[in-house]
Amino acid sequence: MGPLRADGYHEVTTILQAVSLYDEITATSIPPESLAGPDGSGPVFTDEDPIIVTVGVAGEGARPSSPAGADGDDTPAESSISVVPTGRDNLAVRAAYLVAEAAGIHGEAAHLTLSKGIPVAAGMAGGSADAAAALVAFDALWGAGLDRATLVELASRLGSDVPFPLAGGTALGTGRGEQLTDVLGRGEYHWVFALADGGLSTPAVYAEFDRLAEGRLQTGPTPADAVLSALRSGSPEELGAALVNDLQPAALRLRPSLRRVLESGLELGAIGAIVSGSGPTCAFLARDAAASVSLAASLAGMGVARAVRRAQGPVAGAQVLPPSSAS
Ligand code: C5P
Repeated sequence: MGPLRADGYHEVTTILQAVSLYDEITATSIPPESLAGPDGSGPVFTDEDPIIVTVGVAGEGARPSSPAGADGDDTPAESSISVVPTGRDNLAVRAAYLVAEAAGIHGEAAHLTLSKGIPVAAGMAGGSADAAAALVAFDALWGAGLDRATLVELASRLGSDVPFPLAGGTALGTGRGEQLTDVLGRGEYHWVFALADGGLSTPAVYAEFDRLAEGRLQTGPTPADAVLSALRSGSPEELGAALVNDLQPAALRLRPSLRRVLESGLELGAIGAIVSGSGPTCAFLARDAAASVSLAASLAGMGVARAVRRAQGPVAGAQVLPPSSAS
């Protein structure tokens, strides 16, 4: 991590890996006449609001149950979906407006359903994943035909973490995290995530990082050479030993209880333990799939986490599913 830039962001060098926890978003056109008021007046499309997007949120319970042994079903769904915003402050809704603006679309009404499988308010980029998915979904729904470069540009306007879920896989992020280069790695990695009660504000964690770094010379982001070489080798042990997060001390300062969570995972056999992003989720790397199952069960049994999830990576980024396979 580098020092604070004049634009309020930090220069980062970060390795991102997409894992098999998914949100499903459904974008449906609404006939504008069905939005007519009781007096027969139609919806008002103004220059400021040339389209109308409504949003609904559903939890994991609304999704078809996963096949036995599939990922992400170690503990019951949490009930935190109520914190997902349903207005313009939802990143996925903003994504729809950006697609409309870029493609010159007016007079369209649509409904967006977010089926949450990614833990909410956990620092696992669920909102960013929804925004990336909304970009491709509305591009398809409205036949906008935006090219990849435009979608990536819209994603980076929505947030530093939005271009990555558009791409998926494993990537090196630079700049404020939005400039991506594919990482050619090998191997499949089995992760266990321990979720914590309550969120941690990303700006607050970065501010704490600045406070902790005060007075120390910061030249630029730490290179991620050890992680890149581990990914090339495909060795989970090597990757586990190389994991480091410069934001972790700041997250631990703001949430000291996470230290116990990290220690518990290591005591239970994790080969790597790290705060995920700006927290409060802790990520553990397991040696293989079987080890991830027993680590998840033991962590859940210890009661140090609100919930525990398993996932493997890398997986693909946002994809449009054929209507028949959408739930
Ligand atoms: O880009 P995004 O809006 O997701 O960033 C949220 C906040 O996280 C920023 O306002 C900033 O405080 C912090 N941030 C940062 N450096 C980055 C990315 C995010 O300081 N590289």
